[in-house]
Amino acid sequence: MADPQGRGGRQLDGSVMRVSSRGGAGRGPHVAFVAAALLFALLGGLLLALALPIDALARGSTGGRWTAYAQVHGHLQTVGFVGLFIVGMAYRLLPGFAGFTRLRFPGLVWPSFWLLTGGVLARTIGQSVATSAPFAAMMAGGAAAEAAGAVLVAVNIAPMSWHAARAGRPFALFFLAGTGWFVLQAVLGAIWLAQLAAIRGTVLAQDRDGLLVFLQLFGFHLMFILGVGIRSFPVLFAAHPATMRRALAAWAPVQVGIAMLVIGALVEAWRAGRGWVAEDAGAALAGVGLVMAVSLTGWWRAPTRVRPASRPFTYTLQPAMAWLAVAGCLLSAFALDGLVRGGAPTAAQWDAVRHVVAIGVVLMTIVGMAQLIVPELATERLAGRQGAWRGIAFGVALSLAVVLRSFPRLLPVQLQGTWVYWGMAVAALTAIVVLALLAFYFARGVRNLPDGAATTGERHERPGPPREDW
Ligand code: HEM
Repeated sequence: MADPQGRGGRQLDGSVMRVSSRGGAGRGPHVAFVAAALLFALLGGLLLALALPIDALARGSTGGRWTAYAQVHGHLQTVGFVGLFIVGMAYRLLPGFAGFTRLRFPGLVWPSFWLLTGGVLARTIGQSVATSAPFAAMMAGGAAAEAAGAVLVAVNIAPMSWHAARAGRPFALFFLAGTGWFVLQAVLGAIWLAQLAAIRGTVLAQDRDGLLVFLQLFGFHLMFILGVGIRSFPVLFAAHPATMRRALAAWAPVQVGIAMLVIGALVEAWRAGRGWVAEDAGAALAGVGLVMAVSLTGWWRAPTRVRPASRPFTYTLQPAMAWLAVAGCLLSAFALDGLVRGGAPTAAQWDAVRHVVAIGVVLMTIVGMAQLIVPELATERLAGRQGAWRGIAFGVALSLAVVLRSFPRLLPVQLQGTWVYWGMAVAALTAIVVLALLAFYFARGVRNLPDGAATTGERHERPGPPREDW
């Protein structure tokens, strides 16, 4: 039947048929995005997360190239791991969420994949040795490729999200904002890394670096997570779906807060005066908005609308949303503390709230959601293979990692011994084990799922009541 608007073909998980840029044949680009994301984390970002504290313990200091490698770790995690995962799944899910059957520009999917993966690789390999000209050029080229990739992503995601927002779908507000902040951090990163390359530097100045990291975690990752959370979690937890008005009431303070923080940080970066006031006020406002937004997901309710095979994974998502509420409160509290002290939040405060978000919210949501929405993992669940222990164990283990990684540095310096770094190393090992297990299940799913099933929409489950899963 003719389908002029391109609607229909919706799957249980909100994905649709024919998202593949290859016209439905093959496994679908999401497999490449998820595989690359897992490789960036396991062979790059998380290995560095383990190496950094071990190096600090062995040498008794964090001097030398430590800071450059810390920035490389952050970038591998925020853009290489989380960024690729989010983009790959957004390509797969957004058409279904927005009421279309496919992306508007499927031909841009693979170029964006190569620009982002190549860009992250070049930037992170180049940065720590950018004292030599070829590597400095590699770092700057990588950042430029990432910016081009981010623009291609936006070309597909932004108009579709805009259409869905105008049609009154609250999730789209968050996708739209997330796409905008993603592009902004990529463009700023390209400019600042080109300047760093020109002086053969290996460490981005703290104010610039802090702003990029803030945009990546709070502007990009959290907006997509909240978009999915506001759309799908009320179904899981039998809560009332968010109305556009309530979603806007939470969305607006977050965006205004982020914008104020960006302006304040840019003012600080240009040494033009009291930018910290805007930074603090923006962070305080964004924190309040985040708490309001997460309250729209209904995460604290029992997952009664979830079939038993899927229920364990909600036990990973619930702590993730609880950590998001904690992160919002911490962000506001640190910002208010800064206003009282007369400065921006301290490095230790930023480090703590960053890792509450990075491990507690972002990593945990990816681990939980992947098993619900990535077809290669979902088929395994629907075949009844996974143990019920997994969701609870992942939630508990990663919560422990949050505590070990995020809070010790907030203690008075005299109480911080070497155990701060031991705690970090244990947190890194925990995250590696959890993600390695996820990668193993994913690889097994890729091997077992018939080629093309993920993109042609072939179902691997017994039919059940509609919208039961999420
Ligand atoms: C699981 C255990 C983890 C450990 C032990 C760890 C360790 C570290 C360390 C030691 C630093 C440097 C802090 C400093 O400069 O003083 C750092 C920074 C950072 N980490 Fe992690 N990390 C972990 C997980 C993650 C995850 C999952 C993400 C993101 C999803 C992440 C994102 C970042 C970012 C963005 C920075 C800031 C980098 C910069 O300064 O540019 N980390 N981490």
